[in-house]
Amino acid sequence: MEDTFVLIKPDGIQRSMVGRIIQRLEEKGLQLRAMKMVWLDKEIVEELYPHLKEREFFPRLANFMISSPVLAMVWRGEGAVAATRKLLGSTDPQKAENGTIRGDLALAVGANLVHCSDSEENAAREIELFFSPEEMWDYEKSTEIWLREEPWQ
Ligand code: RTP
Ligand code: MG
Repeated sequence: MEDTFVLIKPDGIQRSMVGRIIQRLEEKGLQLRAMKMVWLDKEIVEELYPHLKEREFFPRLANFMISSPVLAMVWRGEGAVAATRKLLGSTDPQKAENGTIRGDLALAVGANLVHCSDSEENAAREIELFFSPEEMWDYEKSTEIWLREEPWQ
């Protein structure tokens, strides 16, 4: 089982997309382990996006990310990191396929609704940045077997 970090960005909160985004993650079969509404500051944006700190657009990205509260979450499932990347679609909503969250619900790369981890290593790092172990729940769902390769086993 894998965990991934997902964060609904300020545009997702402002555009009332929280329910729709969570619905897609639930529908996929991912399990919600933790959630928290937070207001980011520039320091934590730099920690979330260390690979972008030197890019010319970083000040715009940082200003956007601190412009409203956001919703931080941990989702668990088989191959959760890659599955969630696919669900979100390409970084640029203009290039994201229809059927993906960004492809269906957004227009601009600077307002692409959701962040998710791009690797298991970054997922672990990002989760630690936002959640203590006590804030993440380990629990069984009776539907879990119906998401497996051989549910009847
Ligand atoms: P995210 O981390 O938010 O899930 O997005 P991502 O992996 O698909 O893309 P990443 O390269 O990590 O970029 C993080 C966020 O920075 C903004 N961005 N703007 N050319 C630009 O103006 C540009 N490129 C990236 C986007 O909001 C992107 O989600
Ligand atoms: Mg990224």
